[in-house]
Amino acid sequence: MRKKVTIVGSGNVGATAAHWIAAKELADVVLLDVVEGVPQGKALDLLQAMPIEKRDCSIIGTNDYADTVNSDVVVITAGIARKPGMSRDDLLTTNHGIMSKVVGEVVKASPNTIIIVVSNPLDAMAQTAFKQAGFPRERVIGMAGVLDSARFRTFIAEELEVSVENVTAFVLGGHGDTMVPLSRYSTVAGIPITELIEPARLKELETRTANGGAEIVKHLKTGSAYYAPSAAAVEMVEAILKDKKKILPCAAYLQGEYGISGLYVGVPCKLGAKGLEQIIEIKLTPEEQAALQKSADSVKELCTVIGVA
Ligand code: NAI
Ligand code: 2OP
Repeated sequence: MRKKVTIVGSGNVGATAAHWIAAKELADVVLLDVVEGVPQGKALDLLQAMPIEKRDCSIIGTNDYADTVNSDVVVITAGIARKPGMSRDDLLTTNHGIMSKVVGEVVKASPNTIIIVVSNPLDAMAQTAFKQAGFPRERVIGMAGVLDSARFRTFIAEELEVSVENVTAFVLGGHGDTMVPLSRYSTVAGIPITELIEPARLKELETRTANGGAEIVKHLKTGSAYYAPSAAAVEMVEAILKDKKKILPCAAYLQGEYGISGLYVGVPCKLGAKGLEQIIEIKLTPEEQAALQKSADSVKELCTVIGVA
C-alpha cells in the first residue's frame, strides 16, 4: 500500500510540496485548505500531470479532515506568509491561532502521524504544534535548517564555482535573523570551507544566508519563498517515509542538548521511520555556543508571548 501524506495549507509552499512529492512518487497526497475550491483545483491539476510524468500517485484536494485519516506524515504550511517589511515574527499571533486549530484536527484524524511544521515563525509554531498535539518530540519536527543550509550551500557553490552536490553546510539555531551558519562544519568535497573562502567573504555569505528569506520577499513583493522551502520539507518527508536515517538540520524539542531545555531550536537531527530518531550533539566553540543560545533566547521570547514557553 502506498504511503499517505497530508499537506495542510494549499498555498505556495503546500501546493509546491505536493508537486515535489508527486514528482518523486513518494506517497499519495491529500491537500487541505480552509478556502473552498483551491485545494480541489490544485490537486486535480497536479493529478492530471501524472500520466505525463509517469507517476502513480493519488492526489486529492479537500476542506475536510475526514479525508486525511491515518496519514503517515502531515506537513503543516497553513497560515499567513511574509510581505515586504514584515518579519517572520510579525506572523506570530495569527499563525499561533491557526496552528493550534489545525493541529487539533490533525491529531484527531491521524493520532499516529509524524508532523512536520513549516508555518512561521517556525520554531514558535513547532513549539505550538508540539504542545497542542501531545505527541512525543520524535513526532513533531520543524523545517527550517534544511532550507537555510540549502541557501548557504547555493551561495558557497556559486562562490567557488563548484557543483552544489559537492557542498554540505550546517545552519543551526532558530529560523530568524539570529540563525547560526556553521562555516567550520561546512565543506566542499570534504574540505572545510574555512580553508577555501576568506573570512571576510565567508561572513558576507553567512549574512546573506541569514537574510535569505527577506531577499526573496523583497523581489516577490506579494509573498515569500516557496520552491526551496517546499523542496526542503519534502527532503524531510522522504527521509521519514524511506527510513533513510538521514542527518538534517531540523527544529527539534531540546531536553538538555546543547545546554537548552524545553524549546524548539534547529540542531542536527537523524530522521527515519520513527521521525526524529536522534539529536546529534556536535562540539561548538564558545562563540558558536553563545550565538546558538542567543538564537534560542529569541525563540523563547516569542514562545512566551503566545504562552507556549
Ligand atoms: P500562502 O499564503 O501561499 O499559503 C498559506 C495557505 O494556508 C493559504 O492557502 C491559506 O488559505 C491556508 N490557511 C490559512 N488558514 C488555514 C487553516 N486554518 N487551515 C488550513 N489552511 C489554512 O503561504 P505560503 O507561502 O505557502 O507559506 C505558508 C507558511 O509557511 C507561512 O507561514 C510562511 O511564512 C511559512 N514559510 C516557512 C518557511 C520555513 O522555512 N519554515 C519557508 C517558507 C514559508
Ligand atoms: C523563508 O525563509 C519566509 O521563512 C521563509 O523564505
